[in-house]
Amino acid sequence: MGLKDYWIKDQSLDSIGDKKIRWAEREMPVLRMIRERFSKEKPLKNIRIGACLHITKETAVLVKTLRDGGAEVYLCASNPLSTQDDVAAALVNEGFHVYGWRGMNQKEYYECIGHVLYSRPNVTIDDGADLVTSIHKIRYGIISSEIQHAISILGSVTGEEIVKNIMGGCEETTTGVYRLRSLSSQGKLLYPIIAVNDAASKSLFDNPVGTGQSALDGIIRATGTLIAGKDIVVAGYGRVGSGIAVKARGLGARVTIVEVDPINALRAAMEGFRVESMSTAAKHGDIFITATGNINVIRREHFQVMKDDAILANAGHFDVEICKKDLEEQSVRVETVTDCITTYVMKDGRRLHLLGEGRLVNLACAEGHPSAVMDMSFSLQALSSEYIVKNRGVLPVEVITVPREIDLTVAKLKLASMGLELEELTDEQKKYLESWHLGT
Ligand SMILES: NC(=O)c1ccc[n+]([C@@H]2O[C@H](COP(=O)([O-])OP(=O)(O)OC[C@H]3O[C@@H](n4cnc5c(N)ncnc54)[C@H](O)[C@@H]3O)[C@@H](O)[C@H]2O)c1
Repeated sequence: MGLKDYWIKDQSLDSIGDKKIRWAEREMPVLRMIRERFSKEKPLKNIRIGACLHITKETAVLVKTLRDGGAEVYLCASNPLSTQDDVAAALVNEGFHVYGWRGMNQKEYYECIGHVLYSRPNVTIDDGADLVTSIHKIRYGIISSEIQHAISILGSVTGEEIVKNIMGGCEETTTGVYRLRSLSSQGKLLYPIIAVNDAASKSLFDNPVGTGQSALDGIIRATGTLIAGKDIVVAGYGRVGSGIAVKARGLGARVTIVEVDPINALRAAMEGFRVESMSTAAKHGDIFITATGNINVIRREHFQVMKDDAILANAGHFDVEICKKDLEEQSVRVETVTDCITTYVMKDGRRLHLLGEGRLVNLACAEGHPSAVMDMSFSLQALSSEYIVKNRGVLPVEVITVPREIDLTVAKLKLASMGLELEELTDEQKKYLESWHLGT
């Protein structure tokens, strides 16, 4: 099979998508500034970028920025349920190579990855590392049925050939960075990858503030439920979970935290949350939200004791946190209530409602993070891509931290765009901070 120029659901949706992209642009002033500079300087001239990202209106603003910087962009979905089909259509209308639609199956998902790899990208941008791990599996000959779907698109293009062309990559999310660190610690990472997720101007804002708001937005849009007065259980009090917990409390919920890390559990307790095991919390929660990046966090024994009508939602990267297999096995009937709500009727008649098939609720049931937050994350992606191209051949083959200057540039530009002032250190203060002579 050869390369399709694009593979999306419905080209006729392009004008709706175009309006949405323009709406997002208004809230992305930092990326707009970068785009203006990129248009003049063309730092990505002759570079092919292979991106595996949620195909949303904000991603559209990023890929247009990369294109204006001179790159040719090939974009596939990083989740089968997160693509905004109208946005995909608008991008195709502008000549982008886009592969993905909402509701694609596993085979189609990996075939879309295959299309991006067929372009032999020079830079990869990933959200969750499905693109990068596919490259590594193909190169190392670890061929599962999913990878076989990607390979079916590649024809005679080999893993070696794909890797040879790559200068470096960028990773957007925590789960992707875990997977990269695992590759790196086993000495298997094949090219340098920047952990965009770990930049301060990403993980202090996108993860807690962006997901905090948008995960609740997803739950509210899907169910119309009143958050005030609800008993909400959040699993994971890391960057994402803590953001969700704080926002839920702000809307009037009583929030319980489930954590495995003693420090984060203690932090949750000192910040005023009840801390319990999942076995205890499962008995009383009205709404459960997972945000751990871990597998089977809510499973058989927890479903057994949940209240009738409990709502289950996941904000972690993969649909593995709420065990769907256990839910299916324990239920006598499965009902589709809406696009976003699946009800499992248990043997004793209790009904448990799973949102967005257990996939990231903010993208499956809403539109993902607010554009103003993605402004920072995607500015980091654009500047990190430029950094990779500028430093091609000299970066170490490891998981690399976003350079401090890039992180600070994004934060400063964002502050300026918000009309906020930054205090400046006086020479005397700088000297004081650098000196060890002065004391009591
Ligand atoms: N929905 C989104 O748009 C979005 C945005 C950013 C990140 N993410 C994803 O959210 C997940 C969490 O990201 P993060 O940045 O908060 O990671 P993090 O490492 O900061 O936090 C994860 C927390 O979960 C805890 N944890 C692990 N296993 C657990 C278990 N079995 N029970 C309870 N707690 C457990 C860890 O101790 C940690 O405190 C990742 O999968 C990440 O990729 C999603």
